[in-house]
Amino acid sequence: MQYFRITYPNMVTITPSLLYAFVVFLCMAVGISGQYAKFSKLDLPQGVTGPESAAFRGIIFPEGPFTTVTDGRILKWQGPNVGFVDFAYTSPTRTKQFCDTTTDPNKGPICGRPMALSFQPTTRLLYIADAYFGLLVVGPNGGLATQLAGGFKFATGVDVDLLTGNVYFIDASLTYDIRNTTQPGFMPDSTGRFLRYNPLTRRVSVLLSGLSGGGGPAVSQDGRFVLVPELTGNRISKYWLVGPRANQAELLLGNVRNPNKIKRAGRFGEFWVAVSLGFRPPTPLITPQGVRFNSNGVVLQTVSFATQFFNKTISTVQEQNGKLYVGSRLTNFIGVYSN
Ligand SMILES: *[C@@H]1O[C@H](CO)[C@@H](O)[C@H](O)[C@H]1NC(C)=O
Ligand SMILES: *[C@@H]1O[C@H](CO)[C@@H](O)[C@H](O)[C@H]1NC(C)=O
Repeated sequence: MQYFRITYPNMVTITPSLLYAFVVFLCMAVGISGQYAKFSKLDLPQGVTGPESAAFRGIIFPEGPFTTVTDGRILKWQGPNVGFVDFAYTSPTRTKQFCDTTTDPNKGPICGRPMALSFQPTTRLLYIADAYFGLLVVGPNGGLATQLAGGFKFATGVDVDLLTGNVYFIDASLTYDIRNTTQPGFMPDSTGRFLRYNPLTRRVSVLLSGLSGGGGPAVSQDGRFVLVPELTGNRISKYWLVGPRANQAELLLGNVRNPNKIKRAGRFGEFWVAVSLGFRPPTPLITPQGVRFNSNGVVLQTVSFATQFFNKTISTVQEQNGKLYVGSRLTNFIGVYSN
């Protein structure tokens, strides 16, 4: 048997880098347990609404957030002095004159309505789910995106698998589009689908059908599974990519109210989901929250955004450098929560 002699008084000298590591560790620990009580806003340009997403590009010097707005644009945050600037768009028929700042849902099929973003860090390609134009991709300089797969009724979410390059996305329904969801008497159905785009074969496969509403899927950091939300089904499923249950789904969280997009959290194996309690079926007061949970379906934290997003649905909660970036279809800003 071997024993380790404890010699730490002699061996551990407090070097600047060790001190730095300790401070970083402390900050992370505070960030993880904090309640995100500080709030600030990233305002959209005048007249622009509906930032559904908040994606960052790059790891060491992250750029962004990039967001998707009602008038069909993908915008990039350039810091407080510049604000948001145009980055990309999804519709080949879109003109700035006709579309910029529009809130008319009937212009969606002309202007586009991007809903979700996912960067592939190695290629710097940006994958886009657009409500009308399906799955698209755009290069590092932005501009008009290229459609990869179309013919969907209501694409709502996308996430690229960093290991394989496969792209997972969700089409919320075979029958209704984004405009119908705000029309009187709207009834959601269970015809949503979870799909995979393979960039090598350029083929789309249907992995799950019969889903109750859309949202945004998230591939796990280790590439073993994808989480699939059902906005009106109030649940999140785990779709296995590898192992004995590959290509099968199992229920992970069975009672999560109106889960929209799921995003990987800062800590390995954890996720944030944007939920809007009381959205559907409608109640007099909607309560927007971020819920952090792990890959076993254990809820670790719930953060309420009700003060700044009073009675509003939210679409995404994106963690970046210990801050939460909250996007909503109903605001003219991205909310930033920090400790
Ligand atoms: C959805 O809305 C569009 C545009 O208003 C309309 O043409 C269509 O009939 C609606 N579909 C359903 C299923 O309500
Ligand atoms: C919340 O919004 C709904 C729908 O817009 C509205 O009917 C309701 O009165 C609002 N509730 C409060 C407390 O403002």
